[in-house]
Amino acid sequence: MQDAVKKYEVLYKKELKKVEKTFSNIYSKKKPHSLYEPINYILRGGGKRIRPFLVSGAAKSAGSYPKNVYNASLAVEILHNFTLVHDDIMDNADKRRGRDTLHIRNNMDTAILAGDIMTALAYESLLKDCGNNAHKVVSIFTNGIIEVCEGQALDKEFETRNNVSIKEYKVMIYKKTAALMEMCCLIGANLGKARPAQVKALGSYGKNLGMAFQIQDDLLDLIAEEKELGKPVGGDLIEGKKTYLFIKALEKARGKEKKMLLDVMKNKGIKKSEIEKYKSLYLKLGVIEDAKKEIKYYTDKSVSSLKILGNKEGAELLKWLAFTLLQRNK
Ligand code: IPE
Ligand code: IPE
Ligand code: MG
Ligand code: MG
Ligand code: MG
Repeated sequence: MQDAVKKYEVLYKKELKKVEKTFSNIYSKKKPHSLYEPINYILRGGGKRIRPFLVSGAAKSAGSYPKNVYNASLAVEILHNFTLVHDDIMDNADKRRGRDTLHIRNNMDTAILAGDIMTALAYESLLKDCGNNAHKVVSIFTNGIIEVCEGQALDKEFETRNNVSIKEYKVMIYKKTAALMEMCCLIGANLGKARPAQVKALGSYGKNLGMAFQIQDDLLDLIAEEKELGKPVGGDLIEGKKTYLFIKALEKARGKEKKMLLDVMKNKGIKKSEIEKYKSLYLKLGVIEDAKKEIKYYTDKSVSSLKILGNKEGAELLKWLAFTLLQRNK
């Protein structure tokens, strides 16, 4: 068992290194410099590179070689990084991965345009691996982009709404985060020539993994260490985001505690100095524990879809990833 864990860790690190190497000087020589240099800055900023790993892991699960999907795996990471650049504008975020966000480092125009062209660069990379499967794969990719944008719109809409339910929250996180992870798995599965039942299983794995991933992202935003997280903690409370923790807390609180939460909505967020106070409230209401249970629930659900996959090593790899992500601190 330990040996197997080590093996998957090595495979992940190997893939991570390969992606880092590709991105280290990608587009850096292209002109105009003012357009491409910022893109290079974003792409070599690190990150967990989960999404390329999902593409190659899904392809492997279907019995294909990850090297046949490498450009597609870069495509999803480029797309993901585009969503981050624009997300940071929308969320007023100054830091990501321990560095200045693009609109802070350069300026707003640069960040908007960098995001725009990254969509096209992502398609360009994806098409290199499509062969005669292009229509299907490009449709899946396009649908993923549509879902993210819809999810991001809902995320912003919810900032100014006072009655967002957990059910609505789940639709929002499915769209903004889980749909892209589902997309990665579906692309890997389709390019890896998976059978329909395998495609379905991998899609379901990606979707549920993504649900767990975003609830954990909400949790880490408050309980992680700044130096691991790469940005100040408590950003979601400051921005007045309707996170899992906030909605659940509002559901459970009564009296004075409820008023504290209603104040967050009234004031459209909190001050930095109030973060600890709200963290204590969340702990008292038990919503940190609720979030952990929910993350575990979706992780187990994701792993349970892997049973029907033929390629044992591919399935084990994805299972390893799901359980490893449970332990993440960034
Ligand atoms: C952050 O994604 C945005 C979300 C969808 C939650 P990641 O946590 O995968 O970010 P990086 O790429 O590892 O920095
Ligand atoms: C991420 O949600 C959604 C995206 C589609 C990028 P967040 O806004 O919570 O992501 P982080 O926490 O800034 O990475
Ligand atoms: Mg956001
Ligand atoms: Mg954000
Ligand atoms: Mg977040």
